[in-house]
Amino acid sequence: MHEVEVSLGERSYTIAIGEGALARRDLIAPIVAGRSVAIVSNETVAPLYGARLRATLERDAARVIEVVLPDGESHKDWSTLELVFDALLANRFDRASVIVALGGGVVGDIAGFAAATYQRGIDFVQAPTTLLAQVDSSVGGKTGINRPMGKNMVGAFHQPRLVLADIGCLRSLPARELSAGLAEVIKHGAIADADYLAAVERDIAPIRAGDSTALAAAVAGSCEIKARVVAHDEREAGLRAILNFGHTFGHAIESGLGYGEWLHGEAVGAGMVMGADLSRRLGMIGGGEFERLVAAIAAAGLPRAGPAWSADRYLELMSVDKKAERGTPKFVLLEAIGLACVRRVPEDAVRATLAACAVDGVAA
Ligand code: NAD
Ligand code: GLY
Repeated sequence: MHEVEVSLGERSYTIAIGEGALARRDLIAPIVAGRSVAIVSNETVAPLYGARLRATLERDAARVIEVVLPDGESHKDWSTLELVFDALLANRFDRASVIVALGGGVVGDIAGFAAATYQRGIDFVQAPTTLLAQVDSSVGGKTGINRPMGKNMVGAFHQPRLVLADIGCLRSLPARELSAGLAEVIKHGAIADADYLAAVERDIAPIRAGDSTALAAAVAGSCEIKARVVAHDEREAGLRAILNFGHTFGHAIESGLGYGEWLHGEAVGAGMVMGADLSRRLGMIGGGEFERLVAAIAAAGLPRAGPAWSADRYLELMSVDKKAERGTPKFVLLEAIGLACVRRVPEDAVRATLAACAVDGVAA
C-alpha cells in the first residue's frame, strides 16, 4: 500500500493507494468512531462496493446510512445535491456527522459540496472508484456542481480528512472510463514532471489492460504531483491553475455539448491538444513536443480534436471559465513538457488553434 501526504497544516490528510484500501479501518476509524456516517454513492457503484465499505465503517461508526444518487454528469446539479441534504436531515445528522463519498468524480464533487455546506461544514472522506477520481478529483478539496452555462460554476473548497483509493475497484471500470482517467494522468506529467510522463507513456498499454501495478504507479505518481501543487496553493491564487491544462477548452466542449455527451476526461484530452497547439503557435514548445503529447493522448484512446464549432461559439463558451477576467479567458500553456504557466493570449492565436483543432473529435 502506497501513502501520499497532502500537507496543509491542520487540514493535512493521507491518500492511501492500493489493493484493499477500502478496508483500511486503521485509517478511517479515528474519523468515524462514534459518529453518524453517510455513504454517498450512486446507483452503479453502491451495489458494487457499498457493502465492502459499510463493513469497514460499521465496527466503529455509531450508525451508517447510504444515500444513492442517480448516475451521470448530467446529475451533477442542485436537485441531486438536495437529495443528499434531505437524507441527512431526515436521519437527524448533526454537525459531528461524516460523509464518505464512494464513486467517481461526480459523486465526489457533489458529496464534497454537500459536506462543505451541510450545517456550515462537516467532515468527509473520499473513496474514489474511477481512475480519474483516484488520480485527480478526490485530492485537493475542490467540490461543486455544474450549471447549464458553465462547468463546476458553483462550489467550495473543502478538503477531505482522508482518501482511500482502492485500486481493486478499477477492475469493474469500463475501458472508456480508464481512458478518461488517463487524460488527467497525462496532464500531470505534461504540466509538472517530464520523467513521470515518460513512465506513463511506457505504461499506457498496461494501464488500459487493467494491470494493477501500472495502475497503482499512475495513481501514486499523479497524487504526488497534485499533492505538491495543492500544498503550495490550496485555493488557486496562482500555481494551482496549471492543473487546469486542457480544461478551458475541455469545459467549453462539455457544457456546449450538454453534460455527459463526452466524458470529462475525453474533453480534457481534446482540450490538451488545443492547449499544446496554442503553446506551439506562441513559440513556447516545438513541433516534437507537440507531437509527443498528441501521440500519448491518442495512445490513451482519447479524442485529439474538439467538435467542429465556430471559434465564436468556443470563445462564448470559454468566457464563463473560472480563469476568465471580465469575460476574457486565460490559458494554461506549456513552456516545455513538464513545465506549465498561465497567460492571457492574443485572440487571433486562439482562433488559429480552434481552426486547426476544432474539427470534430478524432477517436484514436
Ligand atoms: P463519473 O463520476 O461520472 O464516473 C464515471 C462512470 O463510472 C459513472 O457511470 C460511474 O457510476 C461509473 N463508475 C464509477 N466507479 C466505477 C467502478 N469502480 N466500476 C464500474 N463503474 C464505475 O466520472 P469521473 O470521470 O470519475 O469524474 C468526472 C467528474 O470529476 C467531472 O464532473 C469533473 O468535473 C470532476 N473533476 C473534479 C476534479 C476536482 O478537483 N474536484 C478534478 C477532475 C475532475
Ligand atoms: N482539477 C483541478 C484542480 O484540482 O485544481
